[in-house]
Amino acid sequence: MEVIIQPDLRSGAALGACIMERLIRTKPNAVLGLATGSTPVALYCELIRMHREGGLDFSQVTTFNLDEYVGLAAKHPASYHHFMNENLFSHVNVRRDRIHIPDGTAKDIPAFCQEYEAAISRAGGMDLQLLGIGHDGHIGFNEPSSSLASRTRIKTLTENTVAANQRFFSSPQEVPQHVITMGVGTIMEARTCMLLAFGEGKAEAVAAMVEGPITAMCPASVLQLHPQAVLIIDEAAAGLLKRADYYRRVYANKPSFQQFSSFTLG
Ligand code: F6R
Repeated sequence: MEVIIQPDLRSGAALGACIMERLIRTKPNAVLGLATGSTPVALYCELIRMHREGGLDFSQVTTFNLDEYVGLAAKHPASYHHFMNENLFSHVNVRRDRIHIPDGTAKDIPAFCQEYEAAISRAGGMDLQLLGIGHDGHIGFNEPSSSLASRTRIKTLTENTVAANQRFFSSPQEVPQHVITMGVGTIMEARTCMLLAFGEGKAEAVAAMVEGPITAMCPASVLQLHPQAVLIIDEAAAGLLKRADYYRRVYANKPSFQQFSSFTLG
């Protein structure tokens, strides 16, 4: 896993956006796995700026989002459909028929999940999966104890995740308890996984993911097995890493052609 420590959220988000920009410019029909939550918002702002000011073209890009709340229609203001429209899709030229987000209102959820997996395969798999991390080490909404081989399916959120997500709803009773999420196995098949984490509140989860054992108790730790995983964090989120100086040294001493990250794209 490549660990890139940036001074703050702004520089971390800018670096993440540069990596995605480079992918899209190199491979205009890239397949992107996208995340919601607070973490990717600044990165999406940067992609929008690149589209407006630098002509970054999303017209051939295909997207698959990680997750959606069960029971929320796309129009609900707290749905991830709504979030993605507000924070990215309505500001760039991505084609509506190339956007995929799990349908929280699907009548037959297992059949829907199977079809979601099939759609990812038909698109050729994800070139890059963007990820955030939960305080408990979840990726997507694969909560601790999720199978590390899991595929897209329905999951029950933990009480802590429900509490953390309350900020997007007007009352605690409104927060759904279930989500449809890509599985850990689905995420691991992306050719590159890029996880962002900012702030002191993520330091414990980041340390467990990078330097702890690979365990379903911290689903993000499975990224240690991914051949092209890059982690972009700020100083605060790096606060509990024992080998932070080494990660800084690795990044500082990279040859210039590898400056954004050591992985090869596409
Ligand atoms: C969101 C997702 C989650 C979040 C995680 C962190 O699509 O899959 O894993 O990335 O809960 O959320 P924030 O960024 O709000 O701290």
